[in-house]
Amino acid sequence: MARKVIIAGNWKMNKSGSEGKALVEDLKGRVAGYNDVDIVVCPPFTTLAAVVKAAEGSNIKVGAQNVHWADNGAFTGEISAGMLKEAGVEYAIIGHSERRQYFGETDETVNKRLKAALAAGLKPIVCIGELLDEREGGKTEAVLAKQIKAGFAGLTSADMNKIVIAYEPVWAIGTGKTATPEMAEETHAYIRKAIAGLFDGTTAEAVRIQYGGSMKADNAAELVKQPDIDGGLIGGASLKADSFADLIKNASSK
Ligand code: PGA
Repeated sequence: MARKVIIAGNWKMNKSGSEGKALVEDLKGRVAGYNDVDIVVCPPFTTLAAVVKAAEGSNIKVGAQNVHWADNGAFTGEISAGMLKEAGVEYAIIGHSERRQYFGETDETVNKRLKAALAAGLKPIVCIGELLDEREGGKTEAVLAKQIKAGFAGLTSADMNKIVIAYEPVWAIGTGKTATPEMAEETHAYIRKAIAGLFDGTTAEAVRIQYGGSMKADNAAELVKQPDIDGGLIGGASLKADSFADLIKNASSK
């Protein structure tokens, strides 16, 4: 089955409203016509409105970097799925390793956020990945299996069809160390097998699995060429229109 490549830029805590608007206006012209790739940018919350407006009428979609599980209430500093929908947001990153590392995110909170995002009609990008000592200790598959089982608990195959998985080996994020395409492919194939075990083969074949961790214009083509790698979640290389556009073009089959 052909899965459409999805390239998402995770801006993290970078770009004010005016900077985000300028980036998207520049990017729009560069990636126009690259319709075989789903292109997403995920700015900080306060930059969302400016970016949604700048992306209007283009092939660039907008995502948030987090979403809370409640509709509203006493959750200082959090944003609900309904608020994001109203702001014109289509995607939401959930469970990024920086949220897990610095903000106490667990597989259980990932699962709650995921269900709220789905209920509101957002398209979740769910991040999973192992730490360096877990990889070196031969625990990668066990770590991923646990993140998948607990993170996707209670979901149906129909839910899984709306989800994108981002496999990000934590040791490759922002370090310049990319997993080799072979290493990434091996892990992506394992993730797909785990999804088949939890749901079924058809669901596993359909789910898109992005790679993330020091993906750039010059390694994107080789990564996306792997049979189980369906795109990328990009940090550093998504912060400049020229490098991000080059990456998108290299991931495109045009
Ligand atoms: P990076 O970040 O591309 O800067 O390694 C990826 C991510 O954290 O999503």
